[in-house]
Amino acid sequence: MKNEYIPYPAVIESIRDESFDTKTFRVVFQDDALADSFSYKPGQFAQLSLLGIGEAPISITSSPCKQGFLEFTIRAVGRLTHAMHQLKKGDTIYVRGPYGNSWPFEEVKEKDLYFIAGGIGLPPLRSLINSVFDKREEFGRIKILYGSKTPDELCFKEELKSWQRITDTEVLLTVDKPEEGWKGNVGVVTTLWDKTDMTSSGGAAYVCGPPIMIRFVIERLIGTGFKDENIYISLERYMKCGIGKCGHCNIGPKFVCIHGPVFTYSQIKEFPEKEKAI
Ligand SMILES: Cc1cc2nc3c(=O)[nH]c(=O)nc-3n(C[C@H](O)[C@H](O)[C@H](O)COP(=O)(O)OP(=O)(O)OC[C@H]3O[C@@H](n4cnc5c(N)ncnc54)[C@H](O)[C@@H]3O)c2cc1C
Ligand code: FES
Repeated sequence: MKNEYIPYPAVIESIRDESFDTKTFRVVFQDDALADSFSYKPGQFAQLSLLGIGEAPISITSSPCKQGFLEFTIRAVGRLTHAMHQLKKGDTIYVRGPYGNSWPFEEVKEKDLYFIAGGIGLPPLRSLINSVFDKREEFGRIKILYGSKTPDELCFKEELKSWQRITDTEVLLTVDKPEEGWKGNVGVVTTLWDKTDMTSSGGAAYVCGPPIMIRFVIERLIGTGFKDENIYISLERYMKCGIGKCGHCNIGPKFVCIHGPVFTYSQIKEFPEKEKAI
């Protein structure tokens, strides 16, 4: 019988620095059969671990269309993530998953799409954004609104430039504290509303970032005419099992690991007030 708690070894193929505290790891499963069969959807996460140190949920940031490797963008915040930042190419990490639901994809075809992220909130959206670009003609206009504390802390700097060149796509960036040479916007992500024509046009909004950002973004989206059911949010909760067994990640009757991490705003509104994650 398959033991769901046993992780699989994966070797680090490359490491890219995103900022002073964030790195993107590309890993490849040692077992070829597993590498071929590991399928996932944008928005899902994996439980990553290092033996003797710990385990944590991390979003799969690579696109499912790119076969043969997985990518994870990790900010060093605690025990496991700091240890991961010490690893080198050729080292082994352990992976189990994929877990959780996914961002809606088929359901939003032909709609305008709005991706709104703060800080480390872009990695969970990158897989979806690249999947949408792989089928660009099947969607309406695309706007990506992304903010971070400083220009250095923006993830995927080169990719942001390449997204900007895609047809009918607008990438708007903002930072809280500009550095020398920064020519973009300064202010929280909602200040980007005034830099572009934000109209709901029946489109879908995808939101990921710190809880305070999510709260203000939802307020603006509702004010702009977005319907609760067309606003998708990825939530974070402390997790242990990742598979709906331990109860660590519950919000009211829902478990973020299996019913989420993606919820519509209509679902979040139903959560008990004191347990709302945003
Ligand atoms: C679905 C999902 C997807 C995620 N995707 C990503 C991702 O793509 N990239 C990424 O970098 N992170 C991601 N995270 C967040 C990541 O899982 C956490 O930051 C995780 O805790 C890191 O593990 P750690 O052992 O390094 O840190 P921990 O030791 O768990 O510490 C993390 C932070 O929380 C504080 N902390 C520790 N324990 C507690 C506690 N009991 N109560 C309150 N605060 C505490 C620590 O001081 C530290 O600041 C995701 C989380 C979820 C739920
Ligand atoms: S992490 Fe154990 S139930 Fe969700």
